[in-house]
Amino acid sequence: MKQHLVIFDTTLRDGEQSPGASMTKEEKIRVARQLEKMRVDVIEAGFAAASPGDFDSIHSIAQAIKDSTVCSLARANENDIGRAGEAIKPAKSGRIHTFIATSPIHMEKKLRMTPDQVVEQAVKAIGWARQYTDDIEFSAEDAGRSETDFLCRIFEAVIKAGAKTINVPDTVGYAIPFQYAETMRQLIERVPNSDKVVWSVHCHNDLGLAVSNSLAAVLAGARQVECTINGLGERAGNAALEEIVMAVRTRPDIFPVESRIDTTQIVPASKLVSQITGYPVQPNKAVVGANAFAHESGIHQDGVLKHRETYEIMRAQDVGWSQNKLVLGKHSGRNAFKTRLQELGIELESDEVLNAAFSRFKELADRKHEIFDEDLHALVSEEVVTPDQEHYKLVYSHVCSETGEMPFAKVILNVGGAEKKGEASGGGPVDATFKAIESIVGSGAELLLYSVNAITTGTDAQGEVTTRLSKDERIVNGNGADTDIVIASARSYLNALNKLHSSLDKVKAQGDV
Ligand code: KIV
Ligand code: ZN
Repeated sequence: MKQHLVIFDTTLRDGEQSPGASMTKEEKIRVARQLEKMRVDVIEAGFAAASPGDFDSIHSIAQAIKDSTVCSLARANENDIGRAGEAIKPAKSGRIHTFIATSPIHMEKKLRMTPDQVVEQAVKAIGWARQYTDDIEFSAEDAGRSETDFLCRIFEAVIKAGAKTINVPDTVGYAIPFQYAETMRQLIERVPNSDKVVWSVHCHNDLGLAVSNSLAAVLAGARQVECTINGLGERAGNAALEEIVMAVRTRPDIFPVESRIDTTQIVPASKLVSQITGYPVQPNKAVVGANAFAHESGIHQDGVLKHRETYEIMRAQDVGWSQNKLVLGKHSGRNAFKTRLQELGIELESDEVLNAAFSRFKELADRKHEIFDEDLHALVSEEVVTPDQEHYKLVYSHVCSETGEMPFAKVILNVGGAEKKGEASGGGPVDATFKAIESIVGSGAELLLYSVNAITTGTDAQGEVTTRLSKDERIVNGNGADTDIVIASARSYLNALNKLHSSLDKVKAQGDV
């Protein structure tokens, strides 16, 4: 009989700490719903004390999610724990995840606390958290560089105080699999009350070992893995959920555990997170990369055609790759469109948003005869602002680009109900279009990222553009897709400008985690 492996997803907390990956509340709710659909056990929805926006997102996710535990991070102080406790209050099942650093370097240089004070603070933190929930997780930050004796001491104390999950994070990605597994094994063996808790791992990828370290810890007794979709996260990222889940599922001969994840939801989750954050997935990324199931060499192709398992250890459809099949066409109605979105795990917030997405679908279907699932994902990722939040709308765009001439663009925007014209020259047609838009809007925002990806194959494929803008400490991503990449770019730029303009958009104020 296999034991249960708890999948704790921290895309919305540690993942969101990647530079420029901050998400609006609506985007976070969409991701949380997809994680719930995928049957993630615990969703770490944010860090409630970091900002009012973070608090609000966690609170809304706690209201919306029923089948996963909703968790907030909190430093080991009374204020943070109070904010976390309030934020998760509406959850059917809520968890507080509190942490304090335990490595000599962090205790001495960052916290300026003695080991005794750290233990005392950690125990107090569990007491404060117990006023809100029994489901309390304790993390020893920088455990990867902490002394095992000290970890044993602090873990024994917090378990006595009521912690139910003990997390051993490799915060700086320093661990090596065999050594990390040995630490985990020793902790479970030496902490006297270790059988009262679930042991957890949380690995960063600075040496490219986050997944290996996590799996080694599972073999040593960990029964919770903290991970993120596409391995998003601080610096080089966190352990990738899709790799952990598929390793455990593909090698039942090695792992004595199983997760409850619906693996067919992995690729939709990966695409959603990539589209919202603007972090593209590299083509050769395991499980979710575009080439993960593509066979190029003739020998491999021949083998797969004769017997798939000659070169494939997983089935593409088991992780949610659809066969690039035609799903809808220009005669499809609103109902078929809505049903297909639901099948893809896409819930739009209101009928208004659905109608706006449907009319964009109709426009697209007129120009592109075959509409694939990938096109639908791209289409809705632009609809993250509701129509009433769409302060800037593209009415008309014209670009002139000739050999030997400076590209020139004219645009007409609807700005809060009034039409305005702008024109500009630029280094290329996209540059000219952005300058023409800026001549109307005058946002002064700094362009941090501009990226274009072809969504499907063929020269009539939609180009999906991500634009990342920064203004007054706010960073937003805009998405736009169209068969004309200049128009996709303009849409993406305006999508980002609308988010900056929207008063609902949160001010990013990350704490010092
Ligand atoms: O990496 C880390 O140590 C963390 C903790 C807050 C769990 O993210
Ligand atoms: Zn982390």
